[in-house]
Amino acid sequence: MSTSQAIKAARGLRDILPSERAAWRLVEQAAHGVARRFGYQEIEVPMIEPIELIERGVGADTDVGSKEIYRVITQDDAKPRLALRPEATASVVRAYFEGGLNQAPQPVRLYLLGPMFRHDRPQAGRYRQFYQFDFEVIGDGSAAWDAEVIELAGSWLAAIGIAQVSLELNSIGDANCRPAYLERLKAYYRPLKDQLHPDCQRRLETNPLRLLDCKEPQCAPFKAAAPKITDHLCEPCAAAFAEVRRLLDAGGIEYRLNPYLVRGLDYYTRTVFEFHHTALGGAQNSLGGGGRYDGLATAIGYPDTPAVGFAGGIDRAVLMLAQEGQEVVPEPPAELLVVPGGGELTVAAAEVARIARVAVSTAADYSARSLRAKMRSAGKAGYRWVAILDEAEAARRVVQLRDMVSGEQREVGWDELPDRLLAGGNGL
Ligand code: HAM
Repeated sequence: MSTSQAIKAARGLRDILPSERAAWRLVEQAAHGVARRFGYQEIEVPMIEPIELIERGVGADTDVGSKEIYRVITQDDAKPRLALRPEATASVVRAYFEGGLNQAPQPVRLYLLGPMFRHDRPQAGRYRQFYQFDFEVIGDGSAAWDAEVIELAGSWLAAIGIAQVSLELNSIGDANCRPAYLERLKAYYRPLKDQLHPDCQRRLETNPLRLLDCKEPQCAPFKAAAPKITDHLCEPCAAAFAEVRRLLDAGGIEYRLNPYLVRGLDYYTRTVFEFHHTALGGAQNSLGGGGRYDGLATAIGYPDTPAVGFAGGIDRAVLMLAQEGQEVVPEPPAELLVVPGGGELTVAAAEVARIARVAVSTAADYSARSLRAKMRSAGKAGYRWVAILDEAEAARRVVQLRDMVSGEQREVGWDELPDRLLAGGNGL
């Protein structure tokens, strides 16, 4: 690459520009609001974690575990020890034990918002750095938490205003009943092996549950007659699944039972669920998913601890807002712009801005452009107010305060500015 060539963002990675941030903020604020209304506490965990935590978390035989992890090499490492997190659940469980939250009243209910990293083929709705709203209930196995987590996730999508969603629900059993079911599933698919897509031929041995969510047309005809896990749940798993459905029904939460829903990560037990956007076809239609993961704590070396959680895709939620025609108006950089009209006015403009800033957000235009050009760009940027001053006005400590909506303008003393702006410019 020549030194003069403009360097672009790496493939699958992108910037969220200020004009797009308003929609993102709406989605993020809805997440914070809903999480707090349900009594979940915010947590932060590192974006870089030991590779073993991540691999044992998501499972080595999953797409994420086998080919999507970004490994980090530092100058001290002969081989990588760290990786970028592809999801946050394993980290939150680690933090729960390391931070002593397992000693607090149980369950502990936590949430976070942040970037995740997966080295997958980029396409619309699928990025290599993407953002999740993740929440987890750790330390209680009651099915009531499964239902609450589903309700919280649905409340988030409703708070954003995304209407076209369907909730898909399934139970994938546990260590008691799943092994026998998997043997049945393998016995069903083995005679069909030659007719399956090569990925499914491999899955048949490494991760047979994933045969059920294969999207390849050549595998589709065999699915309908495959044994369904919900017909082979052990008694406790069946009772828990019935309880989740009873609670959802009582809460008026609509769902579709989908016996083929298995999720892409290995740690799930019993309840699994996903919210699909009905307007989006294909593999990228999942706005979020989650489920119970009672075996994850032991998989990463901690005491056996039941837990359930969910992660929503923020990028996709923002995308769907636009798709559903919801316009989020971008915010101007500030409410007031101080515009010095030429001459030696930088110090005065900075002081006016400093005074006004106690009342409203305030920016100053220090450029060397003409007053006309500054006013034109102030109008374009959408400032609510503009405070204009020339040298004589600066000497008298006054500005011309203009209401950019009505076009009215009046002289205002610098020290009256905060009160005048807080009063919405009354008297202009
Ligand atoms: P997941 O289904 O892998 O679950 O991801 C959750 C959501 O993150 C997806 O439904 C999707 O909206 C979004 N997402 C995933 N990958 C991408 C991508 N490459 N680009 C854009 N968005 C993406 C989990 O991550 C689990 N940790 C959820 C969980 C929490 N289970 C229990 N607790």
